[in-house]
Amino acid sequence: MRLGVCYYPEHWPEERWAADAAAMRDLGIEIVRIAEFAWARMEPEQGRLEFDWLDRAIGALASAGLKVVLGTPTVAPPAWMVRADPDILPVDAEGRRRNFGGRRHYCPNNPRYRAHSARVVTALAERYGRDDRVAGWQVDNEFGGGSTGRCYCETCVAAFGDWLRRRYGTLDGPGGLNEAWATVFWSQTYTAWGQIGAPILQLNQPNPSHALDYRRFSSDSIASFATDQVAILRHLAPGKWVTTNLMGLFADLDHYDLAAPFDFVTWDSYPTGNLERWEAACYGDEPRPSAARPYAPDAGDPYVTGLAHELTRGLLARPFWVMEQQAGHINWGRMNPTPREGTVRLWTWHDLAAGADTCVYFRWRACLFAQEQYHSGLLHHDGTPDLGHSEVASLATDRPSMARVAAAPGRARTALLFSYDDLWALELQPHRAGFSYLRLVFAWYRAAARLGIAVDVVPASRRQRRATAQRPLADYAVIVAPSLHLADADDVAALEAWAAAGGRLLVGVRSGFKTPSNRVVEAPLPGALRGLAGATVTAWQGMPPGAAYALAPGGHGLAHEHGGDAAGGVFVGAEATVWAEALAPDATTDVLAHYADGPYRGTAAATRHGVGAGSVTYLGVHPTIETAASLLAEAAAAAGVERLAPAAETLPDGLLAIRRGDEAVLLNFRDEPCRAVVGGVAVAVGPRSVEVVTLA
Ligand code: GAL
Ligand code: ZN
Repeated sequence: MRLGVCYYPEHWPEERWAADAAAMRDLGIEIVRIAEFAWARMEPEQGRLEFDWLDRAIGALASAGLKVVLGTPTVAPPAWMVRADPDILPVDAEGRRRNFGGRRHYCPNNPRYRAHSARVVTALAERYGRDDRVAGWQVDNEFGGGSTGRCYCETCVAAFGDWLRRRYGTLDGPGGLNEAWATVFWSQTYTAWGQIGAPILQLNQPNPSHALDYRRFSSDSIASFATDQVAILRHLAPGKWVTTNLMGLFADLDHYDLAAPFDFVTWDSYPTGNLERWEAACYGDEPRPSAARPYAPDAGDPYVTGLAHELTRGLLARPFWVMEQQAGHINWGRMNPTPREGTVRLWTWHDLAAGADTCVYFRWRACLFAQEQYHSGLLHHDGTPDLGHSEVASLATDRPSMARVAAAPGRARTALLFSYDDLWALELQPHRAGFSYLRLVFAWYRAAARLGIAVDVVPASRRQRRATAQRPLADYAVIVAPSLHLADADDVAALEAWAAAGGRLLVGVRSGFKTPSNRVVEAPLPGALRGLAGATVTAWQGMPPGAAYALAPGGHGLAHEHGGDAAGGVFVGAEATVWAEALAPDATTDVLAHYADGPYRGTAAATRHGVGAGSVTYLGVHPTIETAASLLAEAAAAAGVERLAPAAETLPDGLLAIRRGDEAVLLNFRDEPCRAVVGGVAVAVGPRSVEVVTLA
């Protein structure tokens, strides 16, 4: 695995550059990312381009044998531009035009901003496109960060109108916008395209179809802004790769569409900050890991970080980079704990095991000024080594085993389907607080991780699978669809064909509820999946926090009982929490579990329907981690999918085991040592430490 570091030559006196570069090289750094915020330095006034300083900075790094990742600086338009043309600034969801002085202060649809961006990217690419000292390019920085995924300015609203016209063609009649959005409700009917505004500041709430389309449009807008830059770089920097840095579980943009034009994707991993950021979405009303789980508090949550790794790797189904790896305390969380010894090494190993081939630490040296002065770097403010530096230095002895792991591919045979459309629709109308798409996905991912079952996160949409060159579904023996909420007929047909050929499909609650335009289907639930499931959802409810209905295996007492406990003990002691659906199975559908109490007492809670050589399991309850794990374990056993945890056991909470080729990487995120049997081998792993074992 290659190591890199983020560096801001413009923050330091030029006399320091050569010494920094030499110290980076001595630490084993090969890659240095620079320039992504330096527009005002590159173009101090319109049309006056100044690259001499950048030439010298790249030169200083190159003299030490380092290669550069060059950032396009479009995340930070300079003051002269913004003051001359304030309409470049974005408008937020409160309808406020945001100010200059931070970053990401631009509207992605503003044509003049796009022209400025194209101009600076062209100039940069003309100068460095064929420069051997440049390894590749990063476009912009963290698209959507700081709530900038959606701009609501007049330019955007007008562009939204055009986007809608392309999508629907007509306002009236079948397939028109009025029908798709059901604008008959609350007198919303539009009689001209120009009447359609932004889905913000409505009294009560916006129409969910309107809001969903605005999310799609905004995501397309940013993807198109990114694609323009990629096109310039492809032309002027031939043979060089182009990437961008994403934010893991951040979901305001459709990352499949965003990722498609890039050679590979990268993400910025800040485990302590991301835990705070995503904890509520991942754990809902379960006890917070920070309170109830045994992970070292300064190491983050291995499952939250782990899902972000998987999602990112899955965007283009190929190795990715961590473009910013936390390497000490950060400044933007609530508590910002300082990671203790071992943690940065553990995170680096986690990156590698999850499929990253390069890890770039943020940042080389703590900054003496401005917004991030309390953020750590590998070096302290005064230039002496901080803990992160010694952690990276300590990796020198790990390098041979890291190289062995890097060379070996992971090969998941279980896929976890993911859809930003489904996530958004459920975010717009969760029905019950604490019901989130991410939480559903997370429950399945966490269950797989506890079993040591490798998963690929794969787009649920066939169109997106093609656009992102995913492995064929036929590569997977088990597919989990946590919820196919806005089920599309084409996507369902692909799953049906896959199941008929022998696949085991597990489908979760609220599937098939809606059409792609975010209205409820006029059909028995689960709508487009009704035939595949071989069961009807006859009733459903969001359950209050803390409420639980007991489940019991099989269909005892029900009309359709096929051999009782068809799922081999999966539902013994199980319960429904969060969400419950009552199912009515067809005559040929097995009942895997029924409600033993509560309002749906005696009705089916989980069913299994044979489809050709395969099967479809419909789980009518929000899975607890135990239920998800036992269903997944059963499917894996039946399909011959490897699990690293021994039969009838899970790995200890906080211990990840990831197989790469013949090696299993064990990562202990706990403060205590941990023993486990992994792939039949007994291993002890020290606190916040790593072991690599070779499996037979
Ligand atoms: C990232 C960002 C960096 C820096 C870092 C601090 O989100 O891309 O520029 O601000 O956070 O943790
Ligand atoms: Zn805008």
